[in-house]
Amino acid sequence: MIKHINQSVQYLKDEGFETPEVGLVLGTGLGQIIDHIQIIKEVSYSNIPNFPTATVEFHKGKLIYGVLADKKVVVMQGRFHLYEGYSLQEITYPVRVMEKLGIKTLLVSNAAGAINLDFKKGELMLVDDHINLQGGSPLAFKGVETLGERFTDMSMAYHKGLNDSLEAIAKQHDIKLHKGVYASVVGPQLETKAEYKMLKIIGADAVGMSTVPEIIVANHLNLKAAAVSVLTDECDPSNLKPINIAEIMQMAAKAEPNMITLFKKLIKIL
Ligand code: HPA
Repeated sequence: MIKHINQSVQYLKDEGFETPEVGLVLGTGLGQIIDHIQIIKEVSYSNIPNFPTATVEFHKGKLIYGVLADKKVVVMQGRFHLYEGYSLQEITYPVRVMEKLGIKTLLVSNAAGAINLDFKKGELMLVDDHINLQGGSPLAFKGVETLGERFTDMSMAYHKGLNDSLEAIAKQHDIKLHKGVYASVVGPQLETKAEYKMLKIIGADAVGMSTVPEIIVANHLNLKAAAVSVLTDECDPSNLKPINIAEIMQMAAKAEPNMITLFKKLIKIL
């Protein structure tokens, strides 16, 4: 894997991705942050040696290098999901490449369903901790110890300093920001009533199909990591309505300006 990573990194350096400090994974609800970036260079995933190739129709599949809030950033426009058939190692490969490019901080966004019914759709949740229900680990492969500590500590998976800053920024800007536990599932099907009940019992506040693999690898690489969820639906097992993808996208769009404010202001003070 090291050889592959080095090839990807060399290609990107040759393309001008020089000294990024922060990596951003744009999930649902943060795509428009691109409009705030002074883009220096962008390349399609399909042109980067050894990169997985993007398939999800909502995403564009580009790696972008530019300046956001006075910092050099590298941005994944489009992420890879387990439900598309990628392995956990493929999903997290770009995080390893961004780390080798020089990032020290990884910021991730996602869309999630609200399990905690005090949280409402259209609101944001700062991920404070997670429960991995994806049935595997991105670190479970031969040779992982050559890239970092195999038995990666996850006692502070989400960086306290970053989270404190995000909460302070939310307060300053009057943005409602809940804090809670994100459970990751494989998807792509949504959950049954019984599954939503179980998620509540085991301590999840939100559920989604991404983020946890990237955060595990960020911890493997000793990156500072933070994640924010936009809550797109309310998962009340006693009153469950059929899922409406159009509504999920609409809720994500509604929360987007707040999500952008949080990330921009955080990057500014890093
Ligand atoms: N479940 C899983 N993933 C999701 C949901 C959900 O209810 N909403 C948005 N992403």
